[in-house]
Parts: sequence; C-alpha cells; structure tokens
Amino acid sequence: MLCSNLSETLGNDLDEVFPETYLTAMAIREILEVPDPRLKQVSTPVETFDDELKALIADLFETMYDAPGIGLAAIQVGVPLRALVIDLQPDDPDAEPELCEAHGGHAHYHQPVKREPRVFINPEILDPSEDLNIYSEGCLSVPEIYAEVERPARIRARWQDEDGKTHEEVMDGLMATALQHEMDHLEGILFIDHLSRLKRQMALKKLEKLRKAA
Ligand code: NI
Repeated sequence: MLCSNLSETLGNDLDEVFPETYLTAMAIREILEVPDPRLKQVSTPVETFDDELKALIADLFETMYDAPGIGLAAIQVGVPLRALVIDLQPDDPDAEPELCEAHGGHAHYHQPVKREPRVFINPEILDPSEDLNIYSEGCLSVPEIYAEVERPARIRARWQDEDGKTHEEVMDGLMATALQHEMDHLEGILFIDHLSRLKRQMALKKLEKLRKAA
C-alpha cells in the first residue's frame, strides 16, 4: 500500500503543474466519506472553463496528493461537476532511492515517484473492451477498505481539458481502471457498489469499526 509519507516524498512542486495565479487560492479541501449522501449525487457537465474551474482542479490535486491517493472526483469534495483528476504516480526509475523511516519500524528505501497529473473534464467512455481486468480498488471516500472490482480492461476515453479542448485516447491497465472508478463518482457510484450486497455490508461494517477504534 501507499507509504504514509508519500505526500512528503512528492514535495510541493505543484507550481510546475499550475501557473502562479492559481497557487494563491490553492487549498486542501475536506474529502466526503460514506455514508455522506452527496456522494450519491449525479454530477452536472462543466460548461464554463474559467479560473474558478482551474482553482477547483488545483485544489483537487492538492487534496489528492495530501491524502494521499491516485484519483479524486470533484463530488468527493462536495462539488457536483463532471471534473476529476488522476495521477498514478509511478516509480521514477531514474531517481535515487530515498531513505524512509516513517513506519516506526526499520529504515528502508523507497523509489521516488514521478508526478503525472491528468485532468478530465466531462469524460466519456466510447468503446469498453469485453475482456475485463481485476484490480484491488480503494477510495478516499471509503477509507481503509480495499476490494477487487472487475472492469473493462481497455477503453477509449474522450474528455476535455481545463481549457475546454477535447482529447481522445485508448487506455488500459491501471489508468483505464482509475478513470472508470473516478467516472463512477460522477454518477454517484462508489466502488463498493460493484460488490455483492454481503461484501458491501462487510466492508461498511469494517469501516465503522475502524472509525470507532480511531
Ligand atoms: Ni473513489
């Protein structure tokens, strides 16, 4: 699982991603968690590609990296717009391994990760493959719970960027799964909604227990 000091490892180099104008207002927002009813809302299309949208996107990245997570939809911070961000943060093979002492155990090394921030506004899936991939998924709105979910292994996605420009790309692997997971949020669907009723109830009970213990 993700190292608890991942956000520190990543540093605060968001200024490389966003021009200074948006940095001043950038903030970590509160992430809604189950059973917050707002997570069941269907988000509405983005129609205005303005500075407010760019500020929202900057906040989504800041909030996601801080959590830390690899994807976040606007509704997860209470904004019902069809906007989401993803950064799979793969290991950077060219970087020197970094010493990590964050786990209270013995010191060990982590391979630093690369930032690959991606923005998806009004995303659509055009032709999902029939073959499926299974990933153990988690969600910042369902903390500490992981479960295997089956989704189309390959998708062609179409979306707009923060300036309203349309893009299209064929995706597979973790990127395809992450985008489908985040797009579910826009329909008010959580990954646990893909589980059997029994497994979903077990997951929610486990979460309740963890909250009580915290
Ligand atoms: Ni999620």
